[in-house]
Amino acid sequence: MRNFFQSLRTRVGVGMLMTVWSIAAAHAQTTQGTLVLTGADRRPATSLQGEWASIVDPYFSGLFSFHHEEKKNGWFLNYKAKPGDPFPTEYDYAKAPKLKVPGDWNTQRESLFFYEGPVWYEKDFSYQPKEHTRVFLHVGAANYHSWFWVNGKKVCEHEGGFTAFNCEVTSVIHGGDNFVVAAVDNTRREDNVPTLETDWWNYGGLTREVSLLEVPDSFIDQYDLHLERGTGSTIAGWVHVRDGASGATVEVEIPELGARSSAITDAEGRAAILFDVKGLERWSPESPKLYKVELRAGTDSIDELIGFRTVETRGNEILLNGKPVFLRGVSVHAEAPYRTGRAYSDKDAETLLGWAKDLGCNFVRLAHYPHAETMLRAADRLGLLVWSENPVYWALEFDNTKVLAKAEQQLDEEIDTSRNHAAIIFWSMANETPNTAARTQFIDTLASRARGLDGTRLITAALLVRADGNTKIVDDPLGKALDVIGVNEYIGWYEGHPESADGTQWDIRYNKPLIVSEFGADAKAGLHGGENERWTEEYQANVFRHQLPMLNKIPQLRGMSPWLLMDFRSPNRPLPGIQDEFNRKGLISDQGQKKAAFYVLQRAYKDGTIGKAD
Ligand code: GCU
Repeated sequence: MRNFFQSLRTRVGVGMLMTVWSIAAAHAQTTQGTLVLTGADRRPATSLQGEWASIVDPYFSGLFSFHHEEKKNGWFLNYKAKPGDPFPTEYDYAKAPKLKVPGDWNTQRESLFFYEGPVWYEKDFSYQPKEHTRVFLHVGAANYHSWFWVNGKKVCEHEGGFTAFNCEVTSVIHGGDNFVVAAVDNTRREDNVPTLETDWWNYGGLTREVSLLEVPDSFIDQYDLHLERGTGSTIAGWVHVRDGASGATVEVEIPELGARSSAITDAEGRAAILFDVKGLERWSPESPKLYKVELRAGTDSIDELIGFRTVETRGNEILLNGKPVFLRGVSVHAEAPYRTGRAYSDKDAETLLGWAKDLGCNFVRLAHYPHAETMLRAADRLGLLVWSENPVYWALEFDNTKVLAKAEQQLDEEIDTSRNHAAIIFWSMANETPNTAARTQFIDTLASRARGLDGTRLITAALLVRADGNTKIVDDPLGKALDVIGVNEYIGWYEGHPESADGTQWDIRYNKPLIVSEFGADAKAGLHGGENERWTEEYQANVFRHQLPMLNKIPQLRGMSPWLLMDFRSPNRPLPGIQDEFNRKGLISDQGQKKAAFYVLQRAYKDGTIGKAD
């Protein structure tokens, strides 16, 4: 076990007595020196946001020599040239152009719009060390492969573009002036997760917040607090204290409920939490009640905001707080409204999820990768149930064990970072993967891993359907590994006409809840014409008018998340004057124009024609 890697994790919940000592943290070889922190955004932080100096380095000559050996100490590490140096220094961050962090580089500089490759970032900052205080560099996300140095010393490396990680810098940071250098490479490779083809723009860079977090010598790195299934009043979970002595006391308090519980850590630093509370108001879309929860261990403390609810299935029903629920949803990409580029801010989240609420949604499918904590906090606040997805998208190298390790690592990071969001009810393992034995084995492994890490939520994936004449058949063997089946279909767009839905039968070979996780059509906002004229708003609306009654006839239908809320950039969409590198299946354009189909779906969601369950 690699010492500065995140050690074994355990979870002991009374509801699910399941030691997961055996589930060692998965790390791709290309992820080193990183730690997953739950609730990092609830800790006091020194932000490193703003302008960073940048060097575009297409040949990665800042890291690899002319014989392609990795330079142990790299080159672009902010060395200040001195007169008389026996070697030339061929870069100077002080004179280098700037890039904003957080932010993708593609929408910040015309010349970087299509750029895929390495970019170097440098930021000077001052810091005053404190007694008994450890410092971590927190990175909300860096797409795709990133390396970090502080004061010229390498502190970590990370692969994966959509999950947060933290790197300890206590031993390399000092009083006064310091600097951090990052290399971020968004080159697409076969054995990446996701792999070469995606229907979204490969926005590169330090795409989410970067900051310095301070914690005491031993501190709470992860915790899980949830409402025990089958109860309305039992809080269960665990708290893990890193580098603390076993037998330490952990306290969890919910002041508003006058509830407090303490527990003792075991040899692994984990304390099992189980206590009853009175007067708990359960979280739901109708009343998204969040409680301030204080966690304390030694000199460390975290103030969290948590909603308590249960979710489970019963036959082909989805039960939220024990009651059947129908998921009136929409799919959402992390594309920033109006300015476009990778979404990251509270404002981006409020705008996107505000539109979903306008639509009459109680559910959003956050596609196809883990979204920012800002989005999940907003979903908790606004009362939107969430489908969160690991970027196992289309045709990965499913027979490559290194690729499995990368997918496991990203899944671990997703779950351990976001496990306390009441809004998240689904961990989605994949989207539209080919029906091969290697694929099924690969995702089976991920699904059981996810269940081992978190037994309080439902496991799903978006499957492809096959057709036999007018009958759509849902029998992908992967369905066996799932609690809830997601299916994508594009009747009326990639196949047939809007009316084709009228005569379509569905043959669902699983007695499980079904969610139609994608359907829709492209339309250019403001382009009008006949309802059978592709690319017009009328055509898109017509597709929805025929889809909804068809789907409503499916007995197992328990939800839907049409594709999708807002137009988003994709390199696969070059149609001039209509797509212009945007996928135009949004119900709203990237500039906020609501299309005719938005109102078709809104009416169906608001007048209850869709989803009579709740
Ligand atoms: C696919 C895929 C999406 C894609 C959509 C489309 O189903 O899951 O990522 O954007 O179809 O073609 O518009």
